[in-house]
Parts: sequence; structure tokens; C-alpha cells
Amino acid sequence: MTQTYTIAVLAGDGIGPEITEQALRVLQLIEQKRDIKYDCIAAEFGASAYFLTGKSFPEETKAICDSADAILKGPIGLSHEASEKIPVEERPERGALLPLRRRLNTYANFRPISLPKGMAHFSPLKKEVVGEGINIMLVRELIGGLYFGNKERGKTKNGLRYVKETLEYDELQIRQILHVAFKEAMKRKKVLHNIHKSNVLISSVLWNEILDEVAKDYPEVTVVQMLVDAAATHLCLNPGQFDVMVTENMFGDILSDQGGGILGSLGLMPSACMGPDKAYYEPSHGSAPDIAGKNIANPYSMIGSVALMLDMSFNMNTEAKAVWTAMQSVFEAGYSTSDLTSTNTDIKLLSTTEFGDKIIEELNRLL
Ligand code: IPM
Ligand code: MG
Repeated sequence: MTQTYTIAVLAGDGIGPEITEQALRVLQLIEQKRDIKYDCIAAEFGASAYFLTGKSFPEETKAICDSADAILKGPIGLSHEASEKIPVEERPERGALLPLRRRLNTYANFRPISLPKGMAHFSPLKKEVVGEGINIMLVRELIGGLYFGNKERGKTKNGLRYVKETLEYDELQIRQILHVAFKEAMKRKKVLHNIHKSNVLISSVLWNEILDEVAKDYPEVTVVQMLVDAAATHLCLNPGQFDVMVTENMFGDILSDQGGGILGSLGLMPSACMGPDKAYYEPSHGSAPDIAGKNIANPYSMIGSVALMLDMSFNMNTEAKAVWTAMQSVFEAGYSTSDLTSTNTDIKLLSTTEFGDKIIEELNRLL
């Protein structure tokens, strides 16, 4: 019997719909080549959902996500000015994305910071620093810390406005993400960089205590301790020293954008957000409203998110590998898009759809 998976597709805002369209072509091709069916159900999410329905995460979308086997989500958000037209609580980050993460309990965020040799020219780092390419898996805790801690805003006795946001973690939350990171390290080079700020934050002190406990279950993994500020420097100076990195939510947010920086673009950053029952897959970047609708955004992060979905939700490792290979071959054949590459190079610039065509051609050969 044909295996069927239901996928909720939240195309999102800005360049979201354009790059999502290319990602769906990849799923359609796999359906043609394999005895498999993907029931893709589109649902409104983000600023576009707010303007249509008055909610950035409408009830109907929640229901579609709840009944899906996996969720493919495009970037969300608007320019600063456009955001101001939406009430604070309904802005897509606060009103849609964080509630989605909380609802699905996607505590483990996998952010590959990866640049194969043939794409090394995208990195702004010197050739001798990039070497044979970059291959890091950043594991970010995604539903704790400052993002979800108690928040308070008020006035002091003296009438001064103040805010108080708390960085909260309990040991279960820390333990579960650390297990994920150690397991990932076991699958790779068995080296885990633990990124923290224990010289200042007691949340990091507890984090590191739990790490020592969890590490006992993985005696083969070498743990390297690194402060988050130092990690930022090391990522630029010697990214090759990292294999798996693990860190709390806010540090992971910042370091993953820096990861995009050393690759040459956040457009090269797909991600997987894993919960105990369900996962959703999304680019790590924003919705790039400045280039939306121009058909120039590279679909790599969205198609990469599909590859992660195939691998992590559907156990289709061979197909996932083929998707990565197809995308890399298109870059290696000398093609790119103008969001990633400036015009004064030998590289042939394609539109989003043409880049998608090339990927599909290549994948068709590989599958
Ligand atoms: C990310 C994004 C989000 C975050 C924003 C959009 C809330 O920057 O996924 O990295 O901060 O987690
Ligand atoms: Mg971010």
C-alpha cells in the first residue's frame, strides 16, 4: 500500500511563498519516483494570516498542524514599518512562531551550518580558514530561556519605566536537549562543544552541572567547554574545530545567524525543529521583504528543510541525500541567484524558478 504522509505547509510571508513553491516541486518529484504520497495542506501563518483573518496563527492552521505528520514552514515577518500595522501580540514572531514552537514542544532545533567544498566560495572567510568547507551542527534549545520566561513591565516607585524578563530553565529541559546533542555527536565525530556563559549566568552553571551528569551516558563523546563570546570569535577564526555545538535558546539564535554569516548567507541555513511527537522544518532566516516577489530568492534553505524532513520525519535518508547532492551540483555547475551572488562574477545568475528547474532536473537524474 502506498505510504501517505500529511504535511501542513505554512508558506509564510515575504519570500516564503516563492521558495515554498520550489520546495513542493521536490516533494512532487519524489512522489513520482517512489511509492509514496505527500498530502500537502496549505495553511495561513504569519503576517499574511493576520491581514486575512485577524490572527497570525489562526485556529484552522492550528488544527491543520495538529493533524499533520510534519510541518513545512516558510519564513515569517514584515519590514519594521509594516509590522507596526499589526498589534504587538499578533505580530508574527510573538503571535505565531513562538506559539507554534510551544504548542508542538519543539525543544530541539537542529541548525546545520554547512558549506560543502564545492560551495566554499560563498564564505566571506579566507580560503585557508574555510579549507575543505564547513560542516557544523548547531543544536539549539528552542522553547526555554529568555524567550519563554516570565516577562513583566511596569513603573518603579519613582515613576521610571522598567522591564524584567527572566531566563528560566529546569533540569528536565536542560537534560532533554543535552541528550539530543550527545546523540547527534555520537552519530558524527563524537566531539561536542558546549557553549555557555557560566562565568556570569547561574543558568549556565546549572546547565553545565546537568551536562556532567548526562555526559556519563556517552563516555565516547569528548566535551569541549566554550564561553559563548569566545565561540563567536572561534566560529570566524577556525570553524573547522567545531562538529556539534549545543547551547541554550538565545545564544543559539545569535550564533546560528553568525553561522549564516560565515557561510556567506542566511539563505543557506535550513533547520529542523523537533518535538517529542511532531516536528516542523523552516529556514533559519527571515522573510526578506526587500526582495519578496522578485523571483530572485534562492530556495536552498527551504529545499534543505525538506531534505531534513525526509530524513528526520519520514526516514527517507537516501532521498534526503539526493536532495542535498542535487542542490550542491547546481551550485557547482556554476549557477546561483542574485540574492547570494553579485553580478560581477562568472557565475550564471538564475531566477528562483529557474534555480528550482535545475534542482529538479538534477534530482530527477539522481532518484
Ligand atoms: C530564528 C528567528 C526567531 C527566533 C524569531 C523570528 C522570533 O530569529 O528562528 O532564529 O528568534 O528564534
Ligand atoms: Mg534567529
